[in-house]
Amino acid sequence: MDTTLFQPIPGMADLAAPEVLLWQRLEEQARRIMPLYGFTEIRTPALEYTPVFTRALGETTDVVQKEMYTLADRGGRSLTLRPEGTAGVIRYAAGQGAAADGARLYYVGPMFRCERPQAGRKRQFHQLGVEALGEPNPAADVEVIALQQHLFQSWGLRDFTIDVNTRGLPDDRPAVAQGLAAAVRPQLDALCADCRRRFDTNILRLLDCKQESCRQVIAALPDMATFMSAPARAYLDEVVRLLAQLHLPARVNPRLVRGLDYYIHTVWEIRHPALGAQDALSGGGRYRITQGEKNFDGVGFAAGLERAVMAVQHDQPGWLAAIQPDAPVSLVALGAAARDANLQLAQELRQRGCACGLDLGDRSLKAQMRAANRAGSAWAVIRGERELAAGAAALKDLRDGQQTELKLEDVVAKLIAATGPTRVAPAPG
Ligand code: HAM
Repeated sequence: MDTTLFQPIPGMADLAAPEVLLWQRLEEQARRIMPLYGFTEIRTPALEYTPVFTRALGETTDVVQKEMYTLADRGGRSLTLRPEGTAGVIRYAAGQGAAADGARLYYVGPMFRCERPQAGRKRQFHQLGVEALGEPNPAADVEVIALQQHLFQSWGLRDFTIDVNTRGLPDDRPAVAQGLAAAVRPQLDALCADCRRRFDTNILRLLDCKQESCRQVIAALPDMATFMSAPARAYLDEVVRLLAQLHLPARVNPRLVRGLDYYIHTVWEIRHPALGAQDALSGGGRYRITQGEKNFDGVGFAAGLERAVMAVQHDQPGWLAAIQPDAPVSLVALGAAARDANLQLAQELRQRGCACGLDLGDRSLKAQMRAANRAGSAWAVIRGERELAAGAAALKDLRDGQQTELKLEDVVAKLIAATGPTRVAPAPG
């Protein structure tokens, strides 16, 4: 038997109960918080024309060079499964014209990168992201960082750190690249093969390298900002001032570059210690993306939901147990007529917000009671010919075994009062 037929593709995962409850709760918190900052949801397609990504992210980035799932449609046009959300949102904004000026959009959904899978690194993963379109403005950058802190705190996360840096303006790039190249050149032989290639193609990417020999070279390099123009440095200073004003515990990390080419000015990464090697919970920054003739400026971030769930399970170990749904009521039938009546009763209870389960087959009383216990039901409603004729039911409290015979309407009233409408466990934080 080909067991691979029962497995998802490596690096992709099924998501089911109980973990999916935690995912739902994180998304619910996000949907509550986003409107507080003026963001509305956007759902862009998972598949786009390839240039949407190659142009926005940069031809020499790792994502474009190595990680995109690209295929041809029937007409031979190149399509790519989105590796991130920003490029699609900007493609949308470009199509909206002036109507998208100042748009504030958030998204939740799967992204695809053909990376080597490991803990916290998937080939299909999920991002929750925002994009706030508008001219460069340090206050807008800080507002988006503050939104992330608010969101992560609403998820009960405690131990995250916020690193910020600047990528400067496009005009600063040649000076930054030349300055870094001059500092790296004498030590080129100490670098790994990838970094020697990056030295020629995209020298900033070298600052990201995790190899120990490269790290030593990188640690001794001058800060990028020293090669930037005065306005670029002043922009970062203003961001730092405003972060302090909001008491956001961010620190400047002069080695932070981020892996995508669209960034200008502010970039940041939020890390969590429980995540191991892949410790970036979210990353973001200010960007400038050209679509057609027009430049689109904006600021945004994306958080990886797989990693967020791992971090929440670390910081709030009891949360998943606390959000299990209410134990349902089990409707137990003795005979075909009671089974039909239970289908009706279940519908009434569910429409009034009371979760319940019932036997749809022809199982014995014993088997149905066993199933009720297995489901963790607090109550069993038991009916046969006699109860039907009397308009009554036996209500058994499965926690203490007490059983009482009541009028059916009293059973319904009692169950609604005791169980529904479905209660929502409060979020920590
Ligand atoms: P990114 O840093 O490439 O930025 O991804 C953002 C987050 O997505 C990461 O911090 C991480 O939590 C998660 N992530 C990325 N790759 C994977 C993976 N293979 N497996 C699991 N999680 C992953 C962006 O995508 C930018 N679009 C963010 C942005 C929005 N910048 C401005 N606006």
